[in-house]
Amino acid sequence: MSQETVKGDAFENLLHEERQFPPSPEFAAAANLGEGIYAEASGDRAAFWAQQARELLTWSKDFGQALDWSEPPFAKWFVGGEVNAAYNALDRHVENGLGDRVAIHFEGEPGDSETITYAELTERVKRAANAFESLGVAKGDRVAVYLPMIPEAVVTMLACARIGAVHSVVFGGFSADALRSRIDDAEAKLVVTADGTFRRGKPSSLKPAVDEALSAPGHTVEHVVVVRRNGQDIAWTEGRDLHWSELLADASPEHTAVGHDAEHPLFILYTSGTTGKPKGILHTTGGFLTQTAFTHSAVFDLKPETDVYWCTADVGWVTGHSYVAYAPLVNGATQVMYEGTPDSPHQGRWWEIVQKYKVSILYTAPTAIRTFMKWGREIPDKYDLSSIRVLGTVGEPINPEAWMWYRDVIGGGAAPIVDTWWQTETGAMMIAPLPGVTATKPGSAQVPLPGIAVDVVDESGNSVPNGHGGFLVVREPWPSMLRTIWGDPERFKDTYWSRFEGMYFAGDGAKKDEDGDIWLLGRVDDVMNVSGHRLSTTEIESALVSHPWVAEAAVVGAADETTGQAVVAFVILRADAQTRSTDNADDASAELRAHVGKEIGPIAKPRHVLIVPELPKTRSGKIMRRLLKDVAEGRDPGDATTLADPSVMQQIAADLRK
Ligand code: WTA
Repeated sequence: MSQETVKGDAFENLLHEERQFPPSPEFAAAANLGEGIYAEASGDRAAFWAQQARELLTWSKDFGQALDWSEPPFAKWFVGGEVNAAYNALDRHVENGLGDRVAIHFEGEPGDSETITYAELTERVKRAANAFESLGVAKGDRVAVYLPMIPEAVVTMLACARIGAVHSVVFGGFSADALRSRIDDAEAKLVVTADGTFRRGKPSSLKPAVDEALSAPGHTVEHVVVVRRNGQDIAWTEGRDLHWSELLADASPEHTAVGHDAEHPLFILYTSGTTGKPKGILHTTGGFLTQTAFTHSAVFDLKPETDVYWCTADVGWVTGHSYVAYAPLVNGATQVMYEGTPDSPHQGRWWEIVQKYKVSILYTAPTAIRTFMKWGREIPDKYDLSSIRVLGTVGEPINPEAWMWYRDVIGGGAAPIVDTWWQTETGAMMIAPLPGVTATKPGSAQVPLPGIAVDVVDESGNSVPNGHGGFLVVREPWPSMLRTIWGDPERFKDTYWSRFEGMYFAGDGAKKDEDGDIWLLGRVDDVMNVSGHRLSTTEIESALVSHPWVAEAAVVGAADETTGQAVVAFVILRADAQTRSTDNADDASAELRAHVGKEIGPIAKPRHVLIVPELPKTRSGKIMRRLLKDVAEGRDPGDATTLADPSVMQQIAADLRK
């Protein structure tokens, strides 16, 4: 892993942010949690989490030991306990007389909508569970899910959890190749997909990518279940492909949920790492449910009887797992699910939805907020957003300007903002203010949650004093931590537990301000963050060099006003393709952008592909990405004297100006 030092300078101004927004006395008085929760949790963390586990979940069999950390870094939480995730998200609410409560207000991109109660969602999940079992899917089997943001995605995930099958959701924006490699890595038996979805008023397809992924032999998939969503013509493989609607109609609506071991695998979710191959992050049942449910209630101050919660994340990402498919339902909340983009059919779509359903808690990414800022406040100002009482952000650092805009324009100058730091690996929020307790600061995630031991350390793993920066670590195991990388425990140890003795290394840089509040400074490894989505520089470089024209490639994440970072690629063409660089560099760039789209998915397409004659390298042959980043961000590349050929950077900069 290439370790760059933490570049705090660019963020120095953040720490001069002096505005603070304490909760209003009314909000604090009615809040789920008060200050005391921190003290309660700090004494015996494991006991604190055991208490949360018993209060928030219904266990089929109670657990003994809260935490078994006898073989670090492999943790076992709630030892011997048995719990069913789907029962906790569904059946128990119906048994408690809440069957008529709305679980999901679904809003389709073309304007169709559907209201699904807890009783209805429970029945669908039972039918899907029976249907999957009838296809031979058993406890422990893996199911790949390649679906748009439609209720069937949640039904599929919960049906898998119900029968103990392990879902592996692949974001619909990933390509057939990316889907195939995830199917292969997890050895999935079943794929659940849709004909497609809608994007900006037009049908956009998914099933063809599944067909392409499965076209080469040697895979483990026995069946493909297809939801009809956009009605497009699709190819059909008799015997393998099955219609969701027919399958569910034929399935019994009765299904008894049995408890699964607290450490039974719940899902695998692939995420980009510092090497080319995505990592299958494995989460297990009891700890994941406990921490997601606790944080969802604590950080959003959830009142399930009255709140309408909307998390805009796609189920293809971890936020859509923890805070769409699981926590809100476990907590018995009513949530909104939206299929489409924010600008279809107009740029007020989100605010129209907030107004329509009286959304009270909104959870989204800074990149979306910056986009809305660009579109102008006249748009949200046209709608009644007075229902909003808590605003959340996740996925990337939020700049104070965007934070203030969010508070003033969307939150009516009053709603507390909770900036939540966490990762696919952490499973649930780790650092965030508590809206009824913390005086919030624009741009800072601030405080480790109760029961969570986050710290900022220097190169040698020593805690840094207030006012200093370093690396973000977690010192103690937490319930929703990843348990391993699917099929690769060594990589799990190397990636997260080898940098600092006895600590989890998150890959992020951070600073503590004078009050000890934490400010996130972005990744310190080769992971980029584009619109809150994680992309690996190495993975995109591998995709580029797999193209026959490319000799060498270097990728950097360059600062971007809207998306946080943008992918910029520097490419040396092979001699036989060289003529293109002089004749038609634009064609070569377009071809290579499309190639990355095909290999990984549209989200990974570089903003720019620059054809260069040489790359800046040290005498030992290491590419100096820092210099390329300078150039990509329009700065004069700094000290280039360590380069084997110092003139390379001048050449690149000159080419760029052209
Ligand atoms: C970044 C998303 C600053 C961080 C839940 C982390 C953040 C990566 C924040 C994980 C935040 C997430 N402030 N940075 N509030 N939240 N990040 O796995 O770099 O998609 O390591 O999980 O996003 O991204 P992932």
